[in-house]
Amino acid sequence: MKVSVIGAGNVGATCAMRLLESGLCDVVLLDILESLAKGKAEDLMDAASLIGHGNSAIGTSDYRDIVSSEIVVVTAGFARKPGMTREELLTKNASIIKDVAKNIAKHADNPIIIVVTNPLDVMTYAVHKESGLDSKRVFGMAGLLDSSRMNLVISRTLQKPLRDADSLVLGTHGETMAPALSQSKISGKPLTDCASQEMLDDIVKKTKSRGAEIVSYLGKGSAFYAPSAGVFRMVRAIIDDTAEILPCSCFMQGEYGIKDVYLGVPAKIGSEGVKEIVELPLTEDERQFLKTASDSVHKQLQLL
Ligand code: LAC
Repeated sequence: MKVSVIGAGNVGATCAMRLLESGLCDVVLLDILESLAKGKAEDLMDAASLIGHGNSAIGTSDYRDIVSSEIVVVTAGFARKPGMTREELLTKNASIIKDVAKNIAKHADNPIIIVVTNPLDVMTYAVHKESGLDSKRVFGMAGLLDSSRMNLVISRTLQKPLRDADSLVLGTHGETMAPALSQSKISGKPLTDCASQEMLDDIVKKTKSRGAEIVSYLGKGSAFYAPSAGVFRMVRAIIDDTAEILPCSCFMQGEYGIKDVYLGVPAKIGSEGVKEIVELPLTEDERQFLKTASDSVHKQLQLL
């Protein structure tokens, strides 16, 4: 299997490392800065005999090298700085993403595209439009990252083992993120039965601001270990055709009463991409949060 990663920054390079070192696939790391991509890919290959995997990585700035990739991961674009929202990256990253999408469509043969660039839900739509690929084959990574963050927040708040937390975050990967408390559990029990309202409010608040918290610690650039882990889980679901239900940014066609936007929802993921969007019994409040998230994405799309 061959996976191309567009963008050799922290997220792209860490994705490349996770994919290679798990033995899942060969990786093409592409960046407009050719020597950055080459340097990181060659460094990863220097580690291959120590880790003991048999996969290959190349670094390039030439889109012809992504030919016959089964999957392309898009991480190109700017990361936010302390104090910025993801939405503020809209115009800056849109022009980069349109160019990347056209190049992918031209050089890879009907791949599945996983988008990571922010603002995630809007950039995923842009990649879908510009690449001309079926919406089932273009989706965004965010829900896994946000749900994983929520698991950590729950475990720390309730002082329970991390493995006992099982949460779900829907909506945008942005200001209208929608942690779904009704779908979240701790030690197999509904979270809402195990935490006070004050704790639940705190969990939601901390989950939503976790990305900004990491940005503020790092000072420049945003998180990359957890985002690349989210990409890894999605690539594995596709390559192994697991049909796992994973929260992803998917093109909505009436599910949850929402249409024509990309939004974070649970989806069955396998070798052909999104097999199905799963409609969970959300509370009235949660459905309203999703609607608000959808309105926010619509607004950003209009700006574009
Ligand atoms: C974050 C960025 C990658 O949430 O959106 O860390």
